[in-house]
Amino acid sequence: MNLIGQPFDRTDGLLKVTGEARYAGEFPEARLAHAVLVTSTIACGTIASIDAARAQALPGVLLVMTYQNAPRLPNGGKPALAPPAGRRLSLLQDNEVHYNNEPVAVVVADTLEQATDAARQLRIAYQASPAMLDFTRAKSNSHAPDKPQGRQTDTRRGSFEDGMRGAAVHVDVTYTTPIEHHNPMEPHATMARWDGPQLTLYDSTQGVSGAAQAVAKTFGIAPGDVRVISPFVGGGFGCKGSSWSHVSLCAMAAKQTGRPVRLVLQRPQMFGPVGARPRTEQHLVLAARRDGTLTAMRHDSISNTSTIEDWTETCCMVTRMLYAVPNQITTHRLVQLNLGTPTFMRAPGETTGSFALESAMDELAAALNMDPLALRMKNHADADPQENKPWSGKSLRECYQIGAQKFGWSRRSGAPRSMRNGNTLIGMGMATATYPANRSEAAAIARILPDGTAMVASGTQDIGTGTYTVMTQVAADALGFAPESIRFALGDSSLPRAPVSGGSQSAASVSPAVRDAASQARSQLIALALADQASPVHGLALDDVTVENGWVMSRSQPAKRDPAAAIIARSGGKPIEAASSVKPGDEKQKYSFHSFGAVFVEVHVDADLGTIRVPRVVAVYDVGRVLNEKTARSQMLGGIVWGVGAALQEESSLDTRTGRFTNANLAEYHVPVNADIGSLDITFIDRPDPYINSLGVRGIGEIGITGVPAAIANAVFHATGVRVRDLPITLDKVMGQVRV
Ligand code: MOS
Repeated sequence: MNLIGQPFDRTDGLLKVTGEARYAGEFPEARLAHAVLVTSTIACGTIASIDAARAQALPGVLLVMTYQNAPRLPNGGKPALAPPAGRRLSLLQDNEVHYNNEPVAVVVADTLEQATDAARQLRIAYQASPAMLDFTRAKSNSHAPDKPQGRQTDTRRGSFEDGMRGAAVHVDVTYTTPIEHHNPMEPHATMARWDGPQLTLYDSTQGVSGAAQAVAKTFGIAPGDVRVISPFVGGGFGCKGSSWSHVSLCAMAAKQTGRPVRLVLQRPQMFGPVGARPRTEQHLVLAARRDGTLTAMRHDSISNTSTIEDWTETCCMVTRMLYAVPNQITTHRLVQLNLGTPTFMRAPGETTGSFALESAMDELAAALNMDPLALRMKNHADADPQENKPWSGKSLRECYQIGAQKFGWSRRSGAPRSMRNGNTLIGMGMATATYPANRSEAAAIARILPDGTAMVASGTQDIGTGTYTVMTQVAADALGFAPESIRFALGDSSLPRAPVSGGSQSAASVSPAVRDAASQARSQLIALALADQASPVHGLALDDVTVENGWVMSRSQPAKRDPAAAIIARSGGKPIEAASSVKPGDEKQKYSFHSFGAVFVEVHVDADLGTIRVPRVVAVYDVGRVLNEKTARSQMLGGIVWGVGAALQEESSLDTRTGRFTNANLAEYHVPVNADIGSLDITFIDRPDPYINSLGVRGIGEIGITGVPAAIANAVFHATGVRVRDLPITLDKVMGQVRV
């Protein structure tokens, strides 16, 4: 495997930087019509009346689609699939309003300007009912979700009470995290075209086959009649893992107008109908003996969902597996608010949960007067404590050790507020990163073409992560071809099926299928050559031949060699083709699959102003084998930047009177910019996971954000002596308490 791990440049890089890469909202189409989504202006109630006359009469307007004239859908438009593919949507089937900014109409016109103008002229009157928007008040009416994302709602091991009795020190603390919105640079966008009964959707999605299935179910048409195309995605972060209302609404509008229709969400419409990270409130109790040995742990998490669907931020998942604590209780509860349904966002549960757990560990270390890293080493879980299984592979101790060494952890003074440089308070904090190593069934095809190049394909997605590039490497390696001679195709539901690019699973799921299909094609090529009397390699022993740079050649006599194009030409000119579908076996029954990391952060806090800078982050990760050192590092950079955003900036500010987010734009929804990011030093252990798949590859999409918010919070505490338990850590939360 000599191409695996190499830091190849992105195969799609040139297309992207030259603007050649085409995104969902950019595909040209004859007779294209433009749709604008209209959303509700109340949080709860019904539509009382609609006056569409003025909008309808404007030039170029083709359709004003509301619940009064929208086509009726089978089953009332209710989902027939489980999330992520199936969601409870707003498809104009009735006049009910469940949250502010919910889709209530679609206006279609010849031009985007005409549609935008007409949408403004649409008059909708509402009958408002009282809306529940206050998380604290809603808590009195919480409920237990049923198997959130297939996980256990609550867990209990050992005796929490006994563990508490055996403890010398405990912390009992509550952390809160805000609603956040994904805000990829590219908003959700769909273009729909009907050709008779067949529907083609150009959609910005993390899952082409899930989207096709969901839309087919929604309309009650054959799955084979829906094709979803998504070659490039300008960021997803989880919100594009589900097909939300606008996708089906776009298809409905195309059907009604008899024209291809494009619908691109406006930035403020990204705050409501397409998911969010919910608010969480997490109560933790950690108890330990004087030497730091954990004896009991409790984690009770409450998050908000909508009034129409349960979706749970599974904050306790990390708590269940990270430390060797014998006595533990974890619970998840939901409160219903009149908001859009939340969804997967950037390590959903692990980001928020590890903020709480890893902050609490730091608080426990302070209470024990113990080094926070030593406390974690002391309670290292040598096996999965919840599932009682060995890890498939775990190099966390090495991550801690290498990270501490590279960071200079030994230079950290013990006491808070003890390191400063003039007016700058210096803080050093650390936390553990972890994310499950998921994998699903995936299929691929490999085709060696008559011109001696290869086409390899899978219906997976590249959401900016480098799928095109790493799959090209995997295919090239398995075929024995140069990467430049391979075209890898993805982002099309008509290709062999692959899972949603969510849960950090694409590389781990798709690479074994690509490898297997390519290996089969290579074997066929070799067999053809050996059997061909006209071939220079005819009659050689199988174990004497290899494929290098697209040539079948003898290992012992390298002069004997035959290029793929010649082999195919002599055998009749037909491409060589192999298909593979690879699924997980029973390894999950035997092992617990997780990736791990250690994050070390330095913060500088202005002693007067409370402003927080993060000049450097040192992080070390055990993510199995690294497919491409460059794209992998890029994934971690992005993840850590998300973590800085979650720690210090990101928060969707809810107006609890109206249910509207007051910062529904990129000017006021703050995310880090280059000036907010200092040095990010990333190291991979790069040790193949022996059990996960044929390549030893785990996913790396999401682990980068985990641990970062806690490491920053812990560093802020170390710098200032102020413990902020409410994200984001803005200067107002530390300023009042910082002494000059
Ligand atoms: Mo990721 S939040 O599972 O797309």
